[in-house]
Amino acid sequence: MTIYLDHAATTPVRPEVVDAMLPYLTEVFGNPSSAHAYGRRARAALDEAHERLATRLNVGPREVVFTSGGTESNNLALKGAAWAGKAHGHRIVTSSIEHHAVGHTLRYLEKFGFEVVELPVDRYGRLDPDVVEAALTDRTILVSVMLANNEVGTIQPIGEIAERIRSRRGVVLHVDAVQAAPWVDLDLEALGADLVSLAAHKFEGPKGVGALYVRHGTHLLAQQHGGSQERHRRAGTESLALAVGMAAAYELSCAERPGTVARVRGLRDRLRDAVLAVDGAELTGHPRERLPGLLSVVVTGTDGSAVALGLDLEGIATSVGSACATGSADVSHVLSAMGYPDDEARGALRISLGRTTTSDEIDTAVAVIPTVLRAHRSGEAVLAADPLAELQV
Ligand SMILES: Cc1ncc(COP(=O)(O)O)c(C=O)c1O
Repeated sequence: MTIYLDHAATTPVRPEVVDAMLPYLTEVFGNPSSAHAYGRRARAALDEAHERLATRLNVGPREVVFTSGGTESNNLALKGAAWAGKAHGHRIVTSSIEHHAVGHTLRYLEKFGFEVVELPVDRYGRLDPDVVEAALTDRTILVSVMLANNEVGTIQPIGEIAERIRSRRGVVLHVDAVQAAPWVDLDLEALGADLVSLAAHKFEGPKGVGALYVRHGTHLLAQQHGGSQERHRRAGTESLALAVGMAAAYELSCAERPGTVARVRGLRDRLRDAVLAVDGAELTGHPRERLPGLLSVVVTGTDGSAVALGLDLEGIATSVGSACATGSADVSHVLSAMGYPDDEARGALRISLGRTTTSDEIDTAVAVIPTVLRAHRSGEAVLAADPLAELQV
């Protein structure tokens, strides 16, 4: 059985979450917009899912919009706020290390005349709130900064960034909290953002469902038109089972977070020490302000894709960086923005632990991962790790 150390890509759905969803895939099948008893029952369950998720986020139930996942939440937030703000300005400020669901959406908006300013980050992937403040002009309508990076796990000082933006009337702050959600206590009232994106599959909920928090009073244009679902912000018959699953998964994640964070951080640190003992290995991302489950490194003299493939053959699932970028020949835009030259960035490896990771699994990882990395550095592993190489000989 392969050891799963790629929780930043996605997590397994918890059995309790499957149980919570099942009635809404079977007997409670009504359309929440129908007026009859079936519809009313579905509506009550959907309202409850809003309520439960909102309570955990410390916001109002009407401020939560269920979507199909992190990508849609980011698209709705950015396009919705950009079009809504166009009369006031066209400048959008973001960081240079956002997930493509933000970066590519903003690139799309550029085609319509929006000016997108990508701010630099430091060697650890941190954005300086002063730099954000300096980038704001009276034409700025939107700032989008992720709470935690998906490749290197660095956590941004969102509270301080929000503080700098607060005095600027009309500037909407969007935060992609997709990676942070399982690990960081999200009090959205206190965070100070206007729009926050979440995805259930990062915290042991089902794939295909996410949420966008829309602070009361934030002007947002719907990006999907049709019915009046989700208070006119996202048309289409709601997926009740997925919404219930997301709420259930988030409740469990929050309830267990303190214990999970402490335990997983301990396991991650044990693995980190073993991996950093390999010559040429360097931790990427911030040494302290980082997600507890995420270990990201570059190892000079290795190719991250070949290492990940080699580890897969040894029964350990890891990744090079973002799962969405797998198969792309480009080096990570995140590591480039952090100042890593291409040849170093090519040696990137992301190992991400989750709530279900066991100490025994980390014992195995501690034994196997450094050995595989050393073999790749010395060149011994290249033939074994590259299936095409076998075909060529
Ligand atoms: C930071 C971040 N934003 C957005 C997404 C996209 O989320 P989804 O896969 O639910 O569309 C991901 C997924 O990996 C992510 O890590």
